[in-house]
Amino acid sequence: MTMYFGLVGYPVKHSVSPAMHNAAFKQLGIDAVYLAFEVKPNEVDKAIFGAKALGFKGLNITIPHKEKALEFVKPDSLAARIGAINTIDLETMKGYNTDAYGALKALESSRVNVEGKNILIVGAGGAARAIAFALIEKSLVVISNRTEQRGLKLVEELRRYGESIFIPYNEIEKLEGKIDVIVNATPLGMKGFESKPPLPHSLIRDVVVFDTVYNPMETELIKLARKRKCKVVYGIDMLVYQGAKAFEIWTGKKAPVEVMKKAAINSLTLNSTSFISTSTNGHFPPLS
Ligand SMILES: NC(=O)c1ccc[n+]([C@@H]2O[C@H](COP(=O)([O-])OP(=O)(O)OC[C@H]3O[C@@H](n4cnc5c(N)ncnc54)[C@H](OP(=O)(O)O)[C@@H]3O)[C@@H](O)[C@H]2O)c1
Repeated sequence: MTMYFGLVGYPVKHSVSPAMHNAAFKQLGIDAVYLAFEVKPNEVDKAIFGAKALGFKGLNITIPHKEKALEFVKPDSLAARIGAINTIDLETMKGYNTDAYGALKALESSRVNVEGKNILIVGAGGAARAIAFALIEKSLVVISNRTEQRGLKLVEELRRYGESIFIPYNEIEKLEGKIDVIVNATPLGMKGFESKPPLPHSLIRDVVVFDTVYNPMETELIKLARKRKCKVVYGIDMLVYQGAKAFEIWTGKKAPVEVMKKAAINSLTLNSTSFISTSTNGHFPPLS
């Protein structure tokens, strides 16, 4: 019998997840379908329980529902710390945050050692939280965020598990020479947003640069880092590994990561083409 999986978000029109998961099911000969559903912000509970009642096996949850959805599942300990989930196993009603795993795996696959290193994360939103909690027991996590209060709150939460400090956005330059890995967890660089990197160019020397933005894959920040011979970690890898982990939670099978990556890149390329042709009215739909 065909198994059903879905993505719940708002908007989801440009998501690459259906392409990525359907390619994985096909590759492993699994009779399953993954669909994307646009669900309004106050209706995520109805979507989760409705999908369960319909016999869906699993869901991915994306913006803006990741925090709210946590209330309706049993989160694992990492998801509970982060305060957000992106994956639900509907059979057990367990919730997971595979963005954290995706980020760690992207770093690992690029052979970046984070153990005992100083990591600067720019941003304090959902992506930053997932990455910060994934790293806090291994590294010193420095947070910088445009809205100071949000950054300070994250640092306070992180300090329960390890070493973390906050640096104001306008003082970030002071970190020159003191950081091993820089993570951009803001939308700066993403299509439709300012393309300039969210930090002074002087910091991009002798560091690893991890840009979570994956559309375009080659952001201005990544280009600059490569020009300066810095090691880079791509947002597309985080995206693929978070999907791979969700796939493994649902199916118990090893995810075909390369197939998923190819499907994600193809889907992004298609989306970009339609994006260019429809963007003349100045609306830039976010890609998630
Ligand atoms: N590769 C992946 O798998 C993956 C997964 C998730 C997200 N992402 C990327 O991460 C980005 C952030 O996603 P999110 O879910 O964390 O979003 P979010 O929860 O809305 O957080 C956005 C963060 O970016 C900061 N920010 C927004 N606009 C800014 C600007 N103009 N200048 C400086 N800072 C700005 C915000 O600061 P304030 O607190 O001041 O508003 C906040 O810290 C996305 O755009 C996406 O590209 C990638």
